[in-house]
Amino acid sequence: MDINLTINGIVHEVEISPGDNLLNALRSIGFVGVKHGCETGECGACTILLDSQPINACIYLAAQTEGHVIETIESLGEHPEQGWKTTPGLHLLQEEFVDSGAIQCGYCTPAMLLAAKDLLDRNDTPNEDDVREAFSGILCRCTGYKKPVQAVLRAAAAARGEDLEPITDRPPPPMEWSGGDPGFSNEIGDLPDEIQGAGSKAEEVIAPAQVMPRIELTPETEAWQRVGKPEKKVDALKLVQGKPAFAADFERRGMLVAKVLHSPVAHAHIKRIDKSKAEALPGVAAVLTWQDIPRVVYSTAGQSDPIPGPLDSFSLDNKVRYVGDRVAFVAAETEEIALQALALIEVEYENLEFILDPEEALQPGAPLIHDEPEYVNFADSNPTKNLAAEIRIDIGNVEQGFEEADFVYEGEYEVPKVQQAHIEPHVTITYWDENDRLVINSSTQVPFHARRQLAPVLGLPVKRIRVIKPRIGGGFGGKQEILSEDVAAHLTIATGRPVIYEYSREEEFIAARSRHPMRIKMKTGVKADGTITANAMYALSDTGAYGGHALTVTGNTGHKSMALYVGDGEYRKSPNIQFYADIVYTNHPPSGAYRGYGVPQGFWAVERHMEKIARELDLDPIEFRMKNSLRQGEMQPFSTAWSEGREPRPEMIETCALDQCVQQGKAALGWDQKFGNPEWQLVPGKPQLRRGVGVALVMQGTAIPYLDMGAASIKMNDDGSFNLLVGATDLGTGSDTVLAQMAAEVLGVEVDDIIVYSSDTDFTPFDKGAYASSTTYISGAAVVRAAQAAAQRIKLRAASMLNNQQTEASLIAGEIELIDNKAVAPDGRSISLADIALDTLHHNDQEQIMGIGSFVSPVAPPPFAAQFAEVIVDIETGQVLVDKLVMAVDSGVIINPLTASGQIEGGMTQALGYAVSEEMVYDQDGHPRETDLRDYHIFHAHEMPELTTIFVETFEPSHPFGVKAVAEIPMDGVAPAVGNAVFDAAGVNIDSNPVTPEKVWRQLQNSNRSLS
Ligand code: FES
Ligand code: FES
Repeated sequence: MDINLTINGIVHEVEISPGDNLLNALRSIGFVGVKHGCETGECGACTILLDSQPINACIYLAAQTEGHVIETIESLGEHPEQGWKTTPGLHLLQEEFVDSGAIQCGYCTPAMLLAAKDLLDRNDTPNEDDVREAFSGILCRCTGYKKPVQAVLRAAAAARGEDLEPITDRPPPPMEWSGGDPGFSNEIGDLPDEIQGAGSKAEEVIAPAQVMPRIELTPETEAWQRVGKPEKKVDALKLVQGKPAFAADFERRGMLVAKVLHSPVAHAHIKRIDKSKAEALPGVAAVLTWQDIPRVVYSTAGQSDPIPGPLDSFSLDNKVRYVGDRVAFVAAETEEIALQALALIEVEYENLEFILDPEEALQPGAPLIHDEPEYVNFADSNPTKNLAAEIRIDIGNVEQGFEEADFVYEGEYEVPKVQQAHIEPHVTITYWDENDRLVINSSTQVPFHARRQLAPVLGLPVKRIRVIKPRIGGGFGGKQEILSEDVAAHLTIATGRPVIYEYSREEEFIAARSRHPMRIKMKTGVKADGTITANAMYALSDTGAYGGHALTVTGNTGHKSMALYVGDGEYRKSPNIQFYADIVYTNHPPSGAYRGYGVPQGFWAVERHMEKIARELDLDPIEFRMKNSLRQGEMQPFSTAWSEGREPRPEMIETCALDQCVQQGKAALGWDQKFGNPEWQLVPGKPQLRRGVGVALVMQGTAIPYLDMGAASIKMNDDGSFNLLVGATDLGTGSDTVLAQMAAEVLGVEVDDIIVYSSDTDFTPFDKGAYASSTTYISGAAVVRAAQAAAQRIKLRAASMLNNQQTEASLIAGEIELIDNKAVAPDGRSISLADIALDTLHHNDQEQIMGIGSFVSPVAPPPFAAQFAEVIVDIETGQVLVDKLVMAVDSGVIINPLTASGQIEGGMTQALGYAVSEEMVYDQDGHPRETDLRDYHIFHAHEMPELTTIFVETFEPSHPFGVKAVAEIPMDGVAPAVGNAVFDAAGVNIDSNPVTPEKVWRQLQNSNRSLS
């Protein structure tokens, strides 16, 4: 049927089915700024204005909206200069989102902008609560909401004609630690509304706060023009306009829609499968079962060669190993037909005994999850014992250390399975190009690994596959897994037609990957003075049905969290550390990579355990930690013991500002006034409430030494601009921007003179992809090398051109500096890069100035951080409200304080979910409890605590600009800091996260804590 929709003032005739929702109808006619993140009205990515009211387009029938006025992001504003035409330009909100760093992946940005427009249309003086309320129906998994809220407040202030604090100013320095007044108050007005009750709203804040983080700068950054500055994101303009940028936005003519039939049972053989009825359904182009495609064993984990894990997966198999496993693929003309076809596939399952408990999986006689002959072992994997990996690392002699200890403390901790919950689902479009090469346009973090690993699965040589990575709407490790690409590719091979396969939100929960749940045992020997003499961890890790990331994720659990505390004195010189782990198969959905990559699990156990030891020994918890923690100039203790199954090599800690991080974090939180202050802990007039503060120290890694390689190429254009081609994949982290900043710094140009393209396996150099917090460090060093190579040619040509002018002395290239788009001689003469480009491309000794560089690091310099949390616990109900999170981070030099602080804010917010609300739970048959974003609670804008980020810069000598990693470390410390703060507030130890009201309440009941 045809309907007329009035969209942005223009009437469009749209062909729809009666059941089509407005989201699909709008996207089908090119309004791709309306995004799909779920099907049930929970994520808000599809927000549009209907008769000036924000609504979720996914839950409105398109036919219902005929005769109404629809506004999409495309109506808001546009680039001001379009060739000879000028436009009214961007809306103030769009400008402020760009300037304030409010965009990370940008997937939620159109929705936020429309919700903000609605707010400002109604209220020109909104306060922060108003903005957060306006955003309350839109989930953002990247930003932590802080910068989007500030962007709206700034836009409102600008609209009122008020002066705004310039964001280009140098960032504010950290707080002086003087022990003075940290600014806290014991007044009721400081409390969140939920606890205060109605009518006690905090003081209104209308003026926007500072969007920049606090930074203690290194002196090296002072001479730099582009590095260290809050440059605008190079891709921000297209994102605020809702331009086609994401994989699903690139529709192909004649494209089929793919759907997957998922297993309803946890473990079974497929005894019989009959697809004849589905194939006979009009509009169905292909139905594939395990009988239709080659049986090729592979790993879905996108990693470098050789894959550091077992090969245990098939695109389709005659056995299912978890509820949600793949059974069949369908491609049809429409989504509706594809779903009907799934229902017509007849499957007879021969149910097998299943295992959901990782301890039972290790018992002799347990049912085997992988008994297929094609299984390929890696390292100590052993499918006959349900072992996907085994780790045994001994550093020093823990038994001797325990004997030398005055006290030995043991504890058991547990961490749940949690979901990455990126708002853009996994999505792939595949098609044959005119040269019979298969094009895979995918939301992948690992385009080069995907090409290499899929080639045998698809029966194609690598050279006949091209993987394009467009903009990614968040990945957080979930898109390091090759999950949607093979489905679409098999169906394109079967039909010869373009195919799109996009996960539903339910599929993200049942059939994607998630963080490994673990049971962790700690045993620590301590002298009476607080010296750690030995520290041991055993982790039992549940990899679920497949084990691609089993070894590497769980290895990282010990490699980072157990490296932080080495002991003191003689023990510091020769620490006693043990890390053992069994990573077992169960019939749970597979675990995989999730931001932090095993380290958040480790630090939950280590930092809860350290807190308990400090309290038991009546030691200051921070002093106890600092006494034993790793320091600059010491060896990373695991570096000589383990390296993901490869040869370990020693690594020195060249930079560590943990002590300054602690001081800065304490100052920002007011730790000294609050910790151990019974008066502060009580809330006047609210006898059931207790306040508490907690801390966790953490470290991460930066890339994988001797393995992770990134490359870049750069070429000069006629006007002195440059194309920078990188294989690195920006997930929303801002990596394209920081890579452009580094290139711009070397070449002496503006950031917008660097046109970044990432990534396409046909055109961009290799990069291992976005994981292990490595892009700024690895790919950044490659960019610097490529830019230096180009700069060298530019200087040679400049010297030659200047020497031909009338001068007394001959210049040599080494004397030339590139600055302000010019090559400048020491005597002040200069020549523009545009003139050099014209000369080299058109006039004399023509050549293409370009450079290429690649980089692999011999070290993985760890970032360090001190994470603080302040909570309020209701000791009647067990409710925990996290009031403040403060993170002080040593990530080396900060290339862009806006994008980096956005990473920290967004990371702390994800970690907050891990601390208090997120977990994936299964019933006794392996069916998931959480299958949507209603049951799985990630934080909304109006629920957020105050977030503070402080960077303490160090200069890491292994990188040309001194950087270390930023992206993952904010995942590590929030949960234990919250757990420790809950203990501080209410005296209860919660050893399994999330710290839910029920757990706190039960512990309170057990401890018989009263209100007195
Ligand atoms: S896509 Fe509409 S609310 Fe999620
Ligand atoms: S920026 Fe909001 S979901 Fe990525």
